[in-house]
Amino acid sequence: MLENLNFKLDKFFPRKTIHSLLLFLFKCSLLLLILLLLFQIYSLRSILSSPPPPPLKPPSRCDAGLVYVYDLPPAFNADLLRNCRDLDPWISKCNTLSNAGFGPRATSLPAMPESLTSSWYWTDMFAAEVMYHARIMKHECRTTEPESATAFYIPFYAGVAVGKYLFTNRNYTARDRDYQCEDMLTWLKDQPPWRRSNGSDHFILLGRMTWDFRRKRDEDWGSSFVYMPLMKQIVRLTIERDPWDHGEISVPYPTGFHPKSKLEVDQWIDFVTSRNRTSLFTFVGAKRNKIKDDFRSLLLSYCFNETGSCRVVDCSGSRCYKGTPEIQEAFLGSDFCLQPRGDAHTRRSTFDCMLAGSIPVFFWRRSIEHQYELFLGDEPDRFSVFIDWKDVRNGVSIRKVLEGYSREEVRRMREKVISLIPNFIYGDGNGIGKDAFDIATDGVIKKIKDQNESNMR
Ligand SMILES: *[C@@H]1O[C@H](CO)[C@@H](O)[C@H](O)[C@H]1NC(C)=O
Ligand SMILES: *[C@@H]1O[C@H](CO)[C@@H](O)[C@H](O)[C@H]1NC(C)=O
Ligand SMILES: *[C@@H]1O[C@H](CO)[C@@H](O)[C@H](O)[C@H]1NC(C)=O
Ligand SMILES: *[C@@H]1O[C@H](CO)[C@@H](O)[C@H](O)[C@H]1NC(C)=O
Ligand SMILES: *[C@@H]1O[C@H](CO)[C@@H](O)[C@H](O)[C@H]1NC(C)=O
Repeated sequence: MLENLNFKLDKFFPRKTIHSLLLFLFKCSLLLLILLLLFQIYSLRSILSSPPPPPLKPPSRCDAGLVYVYDLPPAFNADLLRNCRDLDPWISKCNTLSNAGFGPRATSLPAMPESLTSSWYWTDMFAAEVMYHARIMKHECRTTEPESATAFYIPFYAGVAVGKYLFTNRNYTARDRDYQCEDMLTWLKDQPPWRRSNGSDHFILLGRMTWDFRRKRDEDWGSSFVYMPLMKQIVRLTIERDPWDHGEISVPYPTGFHPKSKLEVDQWIDFVTSRNRTSLFTFVGAKRNKIKDDFRSLLLSYCFNETGSCRVVDCSGSRCYKGTPEIQEAFLGSDFCLQPRGDAHTRRSTFDCMLAGSIPVFFWRRSIEHQYELFLGDEPDRFSVFIDWKDVRNGVSIRKVLEGYSREEVRRMREKVISLIPNFIYGDGNGIGKDAFDIATDGVIKKIKDQNESNMR
């Protein structure tokens, strides 16, 4: 066979030609080898003789820009905390606003890994103003020089200030609900950074829903803070944004879990992932007797009827006021949790539910659409279920809709919910990786930069 081939090759290339060809190839490779060797020696020499290259600049967390935090007169933050006894006509807010806004440590909790219990607090859903202020003072991208700042934070506790005057059964006036906001803006507009930008690079966090600051007429609900002319360009972070207002970014309601390390976050995720969920769904809520045809009363009654699949935590009266382990226990044991709208479209309970790895069920699109997109993404269908409240009123069975999801679909949605936990919790600022606070501040700095760039064009 080989001989056969040789014979054929011989026919085309005489043996001599093949020999000289091989010799030529050998010479070529020898030359190449020598060249390579020379090159190696040359580059080695140049490495040895040239100064070492500068170390690569590590990517800085602050490449997007620095934040300046105003040192406001204490009347707009510290004094409000000092007068915490006076912030609510009925109860003292001193405990609620303690621990940099986390509130008092939780004393009774559902069974969970022992190492995590010290990271749980009874955090008030309206405490974000105090939390954000404490965190931003420790922010690695904070500057004390206004000249070097990209963004300016106004640590005014607007919701804490206005909260007391929102109680409608007292005779508070529109002036009562506005004067602190007006005073703050009067102070702010004389500051040099403000005069440079008219507020377009300023931001504030409102720890209540935006609707509490959008009063149009004196006789209506709330303060008119957001509508005050000087507020027009200030970017507002708020726990429920107006979906049509591009000056607002919604941020997660605070939950009670404030982990101290990445390890604790991972332990919590392992814990909720491994839970055996024995109920199909949970409803935590209270009847509102004053409201005619209250949807929450309907859900409560529906849930009591569906004993086989629904777990109820009835919060009527003030039973759940300070939180109870029963609520977390219910979320931890259920695949889904019902999240009807309340006074506002969004609910803190949505975050309590998701933190426990339970899938939220919404009845109003506005409870989730165009909210929290920086934290949860803009595809709510990946981690939640929607059932129109009108369909429920017309007799659609929530149980049957939820039973319609396969185990596989439920597993996929739950995994998505759990994967979002690090994005919506507030750590204690000592390095759990990016948490809700970091995502919010990065988002606001980026927004301010983008606005500036489009204004320049
Ligand atoms: C806005 O753009 C101008 C011009 O590019 C720049 O000088 C200024 O520092 C920018 N401000 C912010 C807040 O990025
Ligand atoms: C509020 O004003 C009304 C009418 O002036 C009065 O009857 C009522 O007692 C007042 N309520 C309080 C809490 O002061
Ligand atoms: C700020 O607003 C005032 C009054 O409307 C205007 O005169 C001034 O030019 C504005 N400054 C900047 C930097 O936009
Ligand atoms: C869940 O149930 C399985 C089977 O009943 C059991 O082996 C496992 O220990 C349970 N896990 C937890 C976290 O309770
Ligand atoms: C629950 O059951 C009661 C008694 O059968 C019934 O009257 C009521 O309409 C049911 N509620 C709901 C929401 O289905």
